[in-house]
Amino acid sequence: MSTKGYNIVSLIRKKRDGHSLTRDEISYLIDQYTKDEVPDYQMSSFLMASFLNGMDEDEASALTHSMLHSGRVLDLSEIPGKKVDKHSTGGVGDKLSLILAPIVASYGVPVPMISGRGLGHTGGTLDKMESIPGFNVDMTLDRYQNILAKCNMVMAGQTEEVAPADKRLYALRDVTATVESIPLIAGSIMSKKLAEGIDALVLDVKFGSGAFMKMHEDAQELAETLVAIGEDFGKETVAYLTNMNQPLGYKVGNWLEVEESMEGLQGNGPDDVMEITHMLAGTMIMLGGKADIVEEGIEMSHEAVQNGQAFDKWLELTEEQGGDTSVLKDFSTYDHAEHSFDFTARESGYISEIDAYSIGMASLELGAGRKRKEDDIDPAAGIELHHKIGSKVEKGQPLITGYMNDKSLVESSKNYLKEAFTIKNEEPEETEMITHRVDREGIHTIGG
Ligand code: URA
Repeated sequence: MSTKGYNIVSLIRKKRDGHSLTRDEISYLIDQYTKDEVPDYQMSSFLMASFLNGMDEDEASALTHSMLHSGRVLDLSEIPGKKVDKHSTGGVGDKLSLILAPIVASYGVPVPMISGRGLGHTGGTLDKMESIPGFNVDMTLDRYQNILAKCNMVMAGQTEEVAPADKRLYALRDVTATVESIPLIAGSIMSKKLAEGIDALVLDVKFGSGAFMKMHEDAQELAETLVAIGEDFGKETVAYLTNMNQPLGYKVGNWLEVEESMEGLQGNGPDDVMEITHMLAGTMIMLGGKADIVEEGIEMSHEAVQNGQAFDKWLELTEEQGGDTSVLKDFSTYDHAEHSFDFTARESGYISEIDAYSIGMASLELGAGRKRKEDDIDPAAGIELHHKIGSKVEKGQPLITGYMNDKSLVESSKNYLKEAFTIKNEEPEETEMITHRVDREGIHTIGG
């Protein structure tokens, strides 16, 4: 950490005028911000200047480094095995962590997972975990390591001790329109993942209407930046570019996504969810040293679902973290939302688009997400889709069912749903779920 003092306004001006900051300057800024010596209004201005002018590779790496060292970097070397985690850039209906972590852990690959809450229209793993009655994601770092050693996996929330700069910057970016920036997203993701004490990382970089990167080329640039930073820090890093042009699976909302994840773990998951899950899990199994190639890892991933070992692992972790396993085995015992409504098709034809952003916002409006940081969420609220892109529907047929405990939220949710579906006479072309893999060797087309 730098001991030099810099004038903060000069640093902001330098970035505003399109110049690059030195490593020392970035380190000073992040350090002072974490210590509350730089106020949010100055940091907001710096974030916007960085958003507009970008950052070069050296700045992005310096930003990650400073954010990583803003808190403790965990040392998990006492736990045997290569520790492998996965991170997604955020999507709608993205419940993959809940399925793949127990698959990978069931083969003895330790998965130390520190996750976030919902951001904007996207859901967060932590909120999903907490919809399981009793499931506790707040813990000391000692307990975090003990659970990891015992179960080969742990699902925890971010603490003040690990990457505190990201915790503060993440919240500030959310309310200053500075989320969708490649270097800022890269610094955010990589600082907290590297602080977890991992040896390797798999990234799910999403593109499309429900992703922060709408365009494939931006997602590709983000993936390349993330992989370059990971490799620079000596961690084997593999990224996949995956399609977020419609919600993943059929269920969106915290408990609803837990239900769909449990179905996935028991062999009844939706095709799109399971295709990406097995690819990411297979890669993690390979990086953890339990398979020689990704294809072998994918086969093992399928097997862990078929023989029940992954679901058993999930139940073991849930019990360890204080959660009620009975609701996971029998969904009818869960305290479901009191009210529901159907949203129907206005015309007949093929569904050609489902705007994932609008579905995410409609679910948030029902109580599944937050409008302000301090809002409580309704764990049972959310949306169930009855159809996906390519389905033929008749006018008046339900497209989705919305669930909520507060009936007054229905109208604002419907305002988003009105924009969500495009129905046409022609059947749409099928699109790939996973287009590319990015690793230290470069970019590779998947399935082509
Ligand atoms: N996920 C993160 O962890 N950080 C971001 O900035 C965006 C998505």
